[in-house]
Amino acid sequence: MSRIAYVNGAYQSMADAMVNIEDRGYQFADGVYEGILVYKGALIDLDPHIERLWRSLGELQMAAPMGKGPLGFVIREVVRRNRVQNGFVYLQITRGVAPRDHAFPEFSIPALTITCKRLNSDAIEQRARKGVAASSQPDMRWGRCDVKSISLLPNILAKQAAREVGAFEAILIDDDGLVSEGSSTNIWMVSTSGELITRSTDDNILPGITRASIKTLCAAHQISFTERAFTLEEAMDAREMFLTSSTAGAMPIVTLDGCMVGDGKVGPVSLKMIDIYRKHLDSHVT
Ligand code: PDD
Repeated sequence: MSRIAYVNGAYQSMADAMVNIEDRGYQFADGVYEGILVYKGALIDLDPHIERLWRSLGELQMAAPMGKGPLGFVIREVVRRNRVQNGFVYLQITRGVAPRDHAFPEFSIPALTITCKRLNSDAIEQRARKGVAASSQPDMRWGRCDVKSISLLPNILAKQAAREVGAFEAILIDDDGLVSEGSSTNIWMVSTSGELITRSTDDNILPGITRASIKTLCAAHQISFTERAFTLEEAMDAREMFLTSSTAGAMPIVTLDGCMVGDGKVGPVSLKMIDIYRKHLDSHVT
């Protein structure tokens, strides 16, 4: 079965799904996106994803192509038409088509595309059980990482550099030597004193939806955590580390820059996070 995409009002086969070459997303990366997990047929945390999308649009003075309710409907329809049970919805909105000029066009219609692909949830679970390697890379991004912009060149260069040294994720280090977040994930650590720490979203990182869910779950399970900056050195000394994202859930990090994190095995806090996050996913399934 050929995959189906939603492109500006029409459901099309991927082969026919095209955008205009003067789309500002294509020319300037003038757009925003969301990525939503599909788990056992359910869309995970759809409402917070849509809220974050609206915030990103607002910050860039970009119009929404439709209301939140209709958008939810179209997202579900793309999942249904692709018959995806476990997968990932990618949704992108750009400022639309206009003759190339850096300043916003006087008039343009926002362009919306949505795709959905399958994910191998068994492979993700196996990876989580073993833990992954991470590599520190310089954070070369702009000052508005709270906006989920499609302009991802620094992120992809960091991820590629990490992959070239055999790591799954790049951990971005800012100019002050502090861990920002991953190239496409948020980062957590358990300090030598057992404190669970993640960077504050006031500090130029993406407010991850998985991060927010983990915070809520920690509170519900009386697991204390601190939101503060931590250095690469602190991370190297950590007992445990894990990353969070819509596709990876809570994923333990067992090596950093080739050195073991803690004893190099998936630790008890990370295991607890995997467990409570899995229950959170299951709570979406009807
Ligand atoms: N990435 N930080 C960055 C820079 C990200 O790109 C992402 C998401 C996250 C985690 O956010 P969330 O928990 O809402 O998925 C943190 C998505 C998955 C992507 O780019 O494909």
